[in-house]
Amino acid sequence: MKYIRSKKYETNQILEKMMGPNPLKLLEELLEHHRIPQRATVMDLGSGQGVTSVFLAREYGFRVFAADLWSSPTENKRFFDRMGLTTEQIIPIHADANDLPFAEEFFDAVISVDSYHYFGRDPEYLGKRLLPFVKHGGFLYIAIPGMKRDCHEDLPPELLLSWTPEQLDTIHDTVYWTNLIAQTEGIDLLSVREMESNEAAWNDWLACDNEYARNDRKTMEAGGGRYLNFIAVVLQRK
Ligand SMILES: C[S@@+](CC[C@H](N)C(=O)[O-])C[C@H]1O[C@@H](n2cnc3c(N)ncnc32)[C@H](O)[C@@H]1O
Repeated sequence: MKYIRSKKYETNQILEKMMGPNPLKLLEELLEHHRIPQRATVMDLGSGQGVTSVFLAREYGFRVFAADLWSSPTENKRFFDRMGLTTEQIIPIHADANDLPFAEEFFDAVISVDSYHYFGRDPEYLGKRLLPFVKHGGFLYIAIPGMKRDCHEDLPPELLLSWTPEQLDTIHDTVYWTNLIAQTEGIDLLSVREMESNEAAWNDWLACDNEYARNDRKTMEAGGGRYLNFIAVVLQRK
């Protein structure tokens, strides 16, 4: 991929807000050939410090609700102001994905980068706690850190250099996500695939001077990256 959109965001102001492998490269790939209507109202679910939300508003012209649990909506609002975005374009919300504060059938799409694995592993989550907020015919575009093959019974020591078994429990392969999501009623599962941007996104993250990136380097420098990928999931509400 050429990353024509995300390359414009390689500034200190953006890089210092990254919370993991470059979410903008992942998002650019995730939304390649997307089917979300123009000027759609979208939820950036698990929006973190807001870089993905800024990208969605600026690059695609969506009206974005930036919903996140751990980040401060006040700080995010300041960031959005600095990026020249108005509250017509982007709305920061403190929200738990398990108890979303929106009207049913409000969103044309939900987009989620590097977050869904924290709350989406409960088989009932999608159908009961997320899908109701999406319009019929609306889309979900999800990018999650994954494993090439699930190996939780026999974790490679390289992975344990950076993460605990409990943390690794959130990371799964395409078979796991396909089986989990396919059992949800009221959706068409359009695709589940490994992402090409995995390596580029990781390289950008590992180059950051950030305590979490430093921790992740232990696994990656030991070759643990060969067990990991990012997975893109696309589905539509019937
Ligand atoms: C690694 S960060 C990714 C942030 C952003 N999407 C990005 O790629 O820059 C993971 C985010 O998931 C969010 N998260 C985890 N559990 C959540 C929950 N139950 N509800 C909402 N957000 C949650 C955290 O608040 C955190 O900001």
